[in-house]
Amino acid sequence: AYTAKIGPSILSSDLSQLGGECERMMECGADYLHLDVMDGHFVPNITFGHPMVECLRRCIGPDPFFDMHMMVSRPEQWVKPMAAAGANQYTFHLEATTNPGNLIKEIRESGMKVGLAIKPGTTVEELAPWAGQIDMALVMTVEPGFGGQKFMEDMMPKVSWLRGQFPSLDIEVDGGVGPDSIHRCAEAGANMIVSGSAVVSSDDPRSVIALLKNVVIE
Ligand code: DX5
Ligand code: ZN
Repeated sequence: AYTAKIGPSILSSDLSQLGGECERMMECGADYLHLDVMDGHFVPNITFGHPMVECLRRCIGPDPFFDMHMMVSRPEQWVKPMAAAGANQYTFHLEATTNPGNLIKEIRESGMKVGLAIKPGTTVEELAPWAGQIDMALVMTVEPGFGGQKFMEDMMPKVSWLRGQFPSLDIEVDGGVGPDSIHRCAEAGANMIVSGSAVVSSDDPRSVIALLKNVVIE
């Protein structure tokens, strides 16, 4: 049986109530929280940084796993502040750094897990050399920057290729994933599913999370 972990992205939630929204997602069965950090430079949008993460950690307690999706131009700059704020995993973009090897080492030394993300225009062959050193690969299924965009099904070959090459690697998909696209992601081999608007804007997030978690692959 296929069981994926579900990490709601709180980008589309009421940002003035972020602590409560995170608690609500965990109560509805989320396995982890996917927190989207945008700097207005790597992507054309701004969200929040480590001071907000520190407050969320204090609000929600030590347990929920924070997967930081760092859509920032200088990912090196925020490793230590994010670790100190209580982040569990630091997912940076391959496109944002010239020295992924060094960054991977710094993230590990700070005590966090390592995620490596690629935008739709980046090939999976570019990620492959680092796959043995990371905990999770993030295959973006929209152009990063905004919630509520359409799922790019043509990214699925990247996921299946990675799954074939690296059977035990965590593979996350992010962007436009919901009840209509989850099957594609599951079939390709993704085991960490980010879902923003489909979960957060639903009247019944608990049912949507349960549905995403228990996909049956024929
Ligand atoms: C996009 C973000 C995603 C996104 C997910 O730049 O990285 O996490 O907000 O939201 P949906 O599921 O609405 O695309
Ligand atoms: Zn994200």
